[in-house]
Amino acid sequence: MSKSLRNRDFLTLQDFTLDELWSILRLARDLKLRFYSGERIIPLLRGKTLAMIFQKPSTRTRISFSVGMYQLGGRALYLNWNDLQLRRGETIEDTARVLSRYVDAIMARVYAHKDLEDLAAAATIPVINGLSDLFHPCQILSDMFTIWEKKGRLKGLTLSYVGDAANNIAHSLLIGCSKFGLNIKMGCPKGYEPKKKVLKMALKNAEVSGSKIEIFNSPVEAVKDTDVIYTDVWVSAGQEAETEIRMKVFPPFQVNRALLEKAPSDVMVMHCLPAKRGLEITDEVIDGPNSIVWDQAENRLHVQKALLALILQ
Ligand code: CP
Ligand code: NVA
Repeated sequence: MSKSLRNRDFLTLQDFTLDELWSILRLARDLKLRFYSGERIIPLLRGKTLAMIFQKPSTRTRISFSVGMYQLGGRALYLNWNDLQLRRGETIEDTARVLSRYVDAIMARVYAHKDLEDLAAAATIPVINGLSDLFHPCQILSDMFTIWEKKGRLKGLTLSYVGDAANNIAHSLLIGCSKFGLNIKMGCPKGYEPKKKVLKMALKNAEVSGSKIEIFNSPVEAVKDTDVIYTDVWVSAGQEAETEIRMKVFPPFQVNRALLEKAPSDVMVMHCLPAKRGLEITDEVIDGPNSIVWDQAENRLHVQKALLALILQ
């Protein structure tokens, strides 16, 4: 059953019903339309403040949340983890308790997902996941919006993810696609399959939505008869020590012209960005006619504005 999104944490898409997720996408569509009709500021969050804690770098998440809060009449504070007393040992819980007295919500990007859960447990205000090692729900909800915008529907489409199927993007795609009823085919090297607990959640969602979930150790198998090819970096932030081995394992999973030729000619290519051009995706593909990555990046703004409005209004 759907409950209001007001005051809820947003740590994973798994915590939300399909109706709730659709309510965010529908509001995002309205806000985007109004933005393009000239309404740059829609003050739904006048006087509200979002604290944004970053343990790792960010371009899209940082800027789209900052600009989003501004366009909703509120403001956002960029807080680098290393500039807070967190670096000197103040606990996450105490930080959460104090921030709860100053601001209306926290968005945090952390290494360990458990840190987000601890933050959310101690905070009396909503906590939004701006990326953890396990999930990136804001990205994938926004990606669902982009696919819906391009195709006019989600249920029954097929998304092929090629690359590291054990990372945050792959995990949130599994949850997002299986909630919205997209079929998902993953092509990843052996040993880089999704975490069992995430796959289990997705398979359970699929029983309700009708999604089909398939995992291959071949990129070609994964991209046959598909609507979307999605890829991400081979080395996520925090995995730098594994770079050498990953650079040996992942090259056959590059999204390049030869791979695109195995997919339908109108396949859409997505990447959450930042991209390592020449590694997981070639210039020719990311800059080519099938790529929708810039629209994909833009939609973070509109979808997160809807999310913030529904959580904080
Ligand atoms: N896709 C994404 O979250 O980008 P940033 O790491 O730049 O925020
Ligand atoms: N998997 C990537 C996603 C970046 C948005 C990372 O965690 O670095």
